[in-house]
Parts: sequence; structure tokens; C-alpha cells
Amino acid sequence: MGKIVAACGVSHILMSPMGCEGPAQNVVDGFQTLGRRLLAAQPDAVIIISSDHMFNIDLAMQPRFVIGMSDHYTPMGDMDIPRTPITGHRALAEAIVKQADQDGFDLCQAEEYRLDHGVMIPLLFMGLSHLPIVPLIVNINTHPMPSAQRCLILGETLRQAIETDLPAASRVAVIGAGGLSHWLCVPRHGDVDEAFDHQVMDELCAGRHAALAQAGNADIIARGGNGGIEIMNWLMAAQAARSSGGEKIFYEPMRSWFTGLGGVLYHVT
Ligand SMILES: [Fe+2]
Repeated sequence: MGKIVAACGVSHILMSPMGCEGPAQNVVDGFQTLGRRLLAAQPDAVIIISSDHMFNIDLAMQPRFVIGMSDHYTPMGDMDIPRTPITGHRALAEAIVKQADQDGFDLCQAEEYRLDHGVMIPLLFMGLSHLPIVPLIVNINTHPMPSAQRCLILGETLRQAIETDLPAASRVAVIGAGGLSHWLCVPRHGDVDEAFDHQVMDELCAGRHAALAQAGNADIIARGGNGGIEIMNWLMAAQAARSSGGEKIFYEPMRSWFTGLGGVLYHVT
């Protein structure tokens, strides 16, 4: 019986620090602090729940959820991210697919997946890229997208898979990556809503991820933007950890980056 030993929600992008050097450094420091806190729990594998940015999931095929099954991944190299191979955790991915099948999820299994910034920025800047990973992608590229409630259920599936199928002493960290508020190529493009971002992080720190999910996708998109819906990844990680609350590690409203960025370390139960 494996277990989840650490979990968090965190943003998944960095841009130029030019003109915003202080806040940008705070973000980088926040990633690193969060990474150290996760590593302190001594995980031997990482599930990273993130979004695709039209690099793998395009209009030709629109699966709701994609899980990487491979032993190795080559980053696609967007944002000048090094294309150094990342190790995958096939046994963990297979355990999740098996449990998901029992729980009514038909996960799209990807033997090849080009990791974009949504996976690579957290892994690299949190210092976790040496650990074997399972990427789990929530498709928010088109409507209808998975509901926040559905993501919570899948979070519980992740936990069950780890507890049921992994060898004893397996220690897994779960990262929900994306957000916070941002609007891209729609009205309010480039806006950041600090009130929304703080409310999301405060709710998560209070263990109220289910209440956030209850509000529903339309509410999240209306208040946090078409990119803010990426917080569903945070909610899934919180449910997997059965988070009782958390600790806000960092937050910066990076208007020149068109998004609020933050990180919350969950209290795993
Ligand atoms: Fe994203």
C-alpha cells in the first residue's frame, strides 16, 4: 500500500523578469520553497496534474483526460525549456488507469507526450525533475471540459490507485499545476483578479476545495478567466491528498505576465 506523502497547488509559468525583478524573484523563490517542502516528505514519484497548451491535444482529437504511460518523456522545449529527458513511472500510471477504469473514467493513455511548460516549469523550478513522474492532463482547450466536480472524483481515484496497487513504502507527491486568474484571447485579456486568487488560496488553506468545486466551472471561469479554470488541477490534487487545509507559500499578481501566480502546500491526511 503506497501513500501520498505531499501535495500542493502551484502555478506553471514564468516569464521575463525585466521590469518586475522583485516580484519575479519572489515567484522563483516560492517555487523553490514549495519544492523543498515537497522533497522533505521524501517522495519517490510525482503525479503532476496540469493542462495542455495546444501542443499535444489539438482540434483533431479532444480527450477529456490524458495520462502519460511512458518510461521516458522528452520536453517539447517551449519557453526555451531544455529538452533533457524526464523519467516516467509506468507502474504508477498503469495503476491509475486500472483504478480509473473501475471508477468510470476512460483515461486516454499516451505512450508519447511532449511535456510543455505546464509540467516542466513546476518540475524544474521546484527541483523535482529527477523523480519519475506521471503526467495527468486535464483538457480545458475546448468545451465541454471536465467539471470541477469530476476532477475531485478523479482525485479520489488517484489516491485509491496509490493505496491499492503500489508496493508498500511507495511515497508519492501530487502537484496540481496551473492558474491562477488569467484571461487569454477573450474580453479582459491580460487581466489579473487578485480577489479571486486570494479567495481560491484562502479556501484551499481552509481545506475547502470541495466548496470551490461546488461553485462549478462557469463560476470559476467568470471570476478567474478562461485560464483560471486551470485551478481544477489544484482541486484534484487537494482531493487526492484529502487535504485538511494548507499553507500559502507565495503569491504575486504578475500583471506584466498576464496572470496571478501562487502556491499552496496542502496538509495531507
Ligand atoms: Fe496553463
